[in-house]
Amino acid sequence: MTGLKTAKFKIVGGKALDGEVVISGAKNAALPILLSTILTDEKVCLKNVPDLADVKTSFKLLQDLGKKCSFEAETGVAVIEGGVTSHVASYELVKTMRASIMALGPLVAYAGSAEVSLPGGCAIGARPVDLHIKGLKEMGAQINLDDGYIKANAIGAGRLHGGHIIMDKVSVTGTENLMMAACLADGTTVIDNAALEPEVEDLAKCLNKMGANVKGAGTSRIEIEGVEKLHGCDHSVVADRIEAGTYLIAGIATGGIVTCCNTLPSTLDAVLQKLREANALITVDGTSITADMRNRQIKPVTVVTAPHPGFPTDMQAQITVLNALASGVSSVTETIFENRFMHIAELIRMGAKLEIKGNTVICEGVTRLKGAQVMSSDLRASASLVIAGLAAEGTTIVDRIYHMDRGYEHIEKKVRGLGGEIERIY
Ligand code: EPZ
Repeated sequence: MTGLKTAKFKIVGGKALDGEVVISGAKNAALPILLSTILTDEKVCLKNVPDLADVKTSFKLLQDLGKKCSFEAETGVAVIEGGVTSHVASYELVKTMRASIMALGPLVAYAGSAEVSLPGGCAIGARPVDLHIKGLKEMGAQINLDDGYIKANAIGAGRLHGGHIIMDKVSVTGTENLMMAACLADGTTVIDNAALEPEVEDLAKCLNKMGANVKGAGTSRIEIEGVEKLHGCDHSVVADRIEAGTYLIAGIATGGIVTCCNTLPSTLDAVLQKLREANALITVDGTSITADMRNRQIKPVTVVTAPHPGFPTDMQAQITVLNALASGVSSVTETIFENRFMHIAELIRMGAKLEIKGNTVICEGVTRLKGAQVMSSDLRASASLVIAGLAAEGTTIVDRIYHMDRGYEHIEKKVRGLGGEIERIY
């Protein structure tokens, strides 16, 4: 564990990236899909599962709950089977991955009760789970917070019932948690103001393959008709749009040409629009997206993050690097999380001219960043520092890269495949 925690990246920047990179399955689809297997005791076979720290944590959680899991990291094939024998998701696991909260809905729906450690705060914000709890109560769950745990019980017949849930705020994992719980509820559940993220749609696809009855995923109204039992299925996890966006921006920031293969371009409309505004030549060919920035100057773009189909908050840190290198002044406004500017001070250490004003960063472009020692604070902040290091003059050392291992598969291999100079040092 110590080695993992102390690993750093050493990056020698200044080279234009050039080449193709194969995009992995989406972390934010794989996690809820893995936890949805709690809803059945039959065999579920998943393909395109990324080899990530968070995926490994999900397997640990499923095994703790009594599921049998196998995962071939090289091929991205996972097999999960057997029924859960425990309904407790421990603090030890939840503290390492707050997405474990998505075990709550499936457990109370399948087993009639659940004890899930309450996720604490996180670097990017307080991130409460009140909407998850409120929705489950709407389906008849009795919920107590006790000893740092959410203790939920399906009262009455020991089964949840349908309900009409109007989400006070758009929540991705909130929508996913409640959608999963509703699959085994008695009656019909309607979730209004649901999240429209492509990962929600992918989860719904997998649930319907398991025999669920989910309609409207990908719209703000999702309707789920509960069934008695779900069965096994085969499913391939959707491509990771955030990983694809990250590599496209790395190509643009270094003045190169990068092609992302195995993508789902329709999930990246808002991102590609901003990259075009930044003056990149973007071409889409089937499941490949190319960003060509050779002999082109980065233009400043105004970005405001929003739920899908708006500009994703998970791309905010990465596009800020482009604005830091653009010819002129621009702004980036974060509307989803209250503390997602931890990378700004690190980019300023590399010579960027950035100023935080409330939930907006004013960016005054510079012609060149300079390598420095910097520290990651969270997953996407670390991605922005790696991009900045690749674009910068000289050497950059990025510390605490365990954040990045949670959500990017085989980073060094993929960056080297594009001609970037990066190595993991301890
Ligand atoms: C998901 O987190 C993603 N994680 C995040 O990706 C992503 O940033 C986020 O959605 C927004 O797109 C996974 O899918 C595993 P939310 P989630 O609930 O579901 C507030 C990454 O980098 N809120 O949509 O936790 C919340 O505080 C990660 O891959 C409540 O107030 O985010 C935030 O301000 C980081 N009460 C807003 O809603 C609740 O009960 C949106 O959060 C739930 C959320």
